[in-house]
Amino acid sequence: MHTSCEKASLEVCRQAAEYLKKGEIAAIPTETVYGLAADATNGQAVKKIFEAKGRPQDNPLISHISSMEMLPMVWRKVTPQAKALAEAFWPGPLTIILPRSELLADEVCAGLPTAAVRWPSHPVAQQVIALAGVPLAAPSANTSGSPSPTTAESVMQDMAGKIPMVVDGGTCEVGVESTVVSLAGQTPLLLRPGGVTKEELERVLGCEVKLSDAVLHQLQEGEKPASPGMKYRHYAPNARVLIVQGSSAQYCEYVKAHAEEGDCALCFEEDVKALSGIACIPYGKEGDGVSQAHGLFAALRALDEKHVKTAYARCPQQSGISLAVYNRLLRAAAFQVVQV
Ligand code: TXA
Ligand code: MG
Repeated sequence: MHTSCEKASLEVCRQAAEYLKKGEIAAIPTETVYGLAADATNGQAVKKIFEAKGRPQDNPLISHISSMEMLPMVWRKVTPQAKALAEAFWPGPLTIILPRSELLADEVCAGLPTAAVRWPSHPVAQQVIALAGVPLAAPSANTSGSPSPTTAESVMQDMAGKIPMVVDGGTCEVGVESTVVSLAGQTPLLLRPGGVTKEELERVLGCEVKLSDAVLHQLQEGEKPASPGMKYRHYAPNARVLIVQGSSAQYCEYVKAHAEEGDCALCFEEDVKALSGIACIPYGKEGDGVSQAHGLFAALRALDEKHVKTAYARCPQQSGISLAVYNRLLRAAAFQVVQV
């Protein structure tokens, strides 16, 4: 496998685009997390993504574009609501779902009549898409079920030997995956919270955006989610994660009373001092969703590097970008939350 040096040069982007045009896959940086990309119009290429990730076949992929001119390749038509959101938030961490175009490979949509589309803001992602000249299907570049990668090193941990190339674009700025909103139904439906908040979407659309049940609740046996990805155990480290909901003082007291040898506190930076004697892996600052999102996946990966048994996680708020952090943490914790 080949990894480029620090800031991906034009030459490295060209090489990645060559692989992609030939029907190969390559990992590329985006502002959210690293993606594992393939030509979204080439079914054989897209199949390689599912194989490398061990991803269930029924979980559809996001197609990434680098200009509005590419939209006819992914959607049947662009609605006024989609146009408004695209104007406000693209390029950026927002994925929009509308009825699909027939030009997309069926494998991308996994049998659904709709397609998820995003225009990333990362210059390297934009460069590779533009050079490839086709929309790129790209899920997060992790092994299915493990935390999404926010550095090229994390991609290598999961994908070494399985893919021909990782383009290194440094650490991802946002740190959690894009917001996914469906405009294919009667009312806008938020399927996955991310860097663009529910509040921001509502402001631009001028109407309520419904929060999909699967965002904050565990699906019951046999229940069918609006977004197939929601039914899988996600972002899960090997460590047991338990979310502890309460103030800083209550949290620290709980952790001190319960943590045993090999356990750790997945806390905010401000909590570290009060937790002396306990191993701490901080993942951001209190009340600062941007820093929490940026640090969460690296912190989850660190749990396994340190062979942590149980991680006691400080609970983020459930609004703004912290809602995205809480959504990922809930899945990492298999919905185990204690109130103190
Ligand atoms: O930030 C991101 O979105 C990253 C970067 C690489 O762009 N990509 C990413 O892709 O997170 P992935 O495959 O890990 O997550 C895509 C999510 C899944 O939960 C999938 O089920 C959902 O979007 N999805 C894709 N197409 C859909 C569709 N047509 N209808 C409903 N959900 C869809
Ligand atoms: Mg993923």
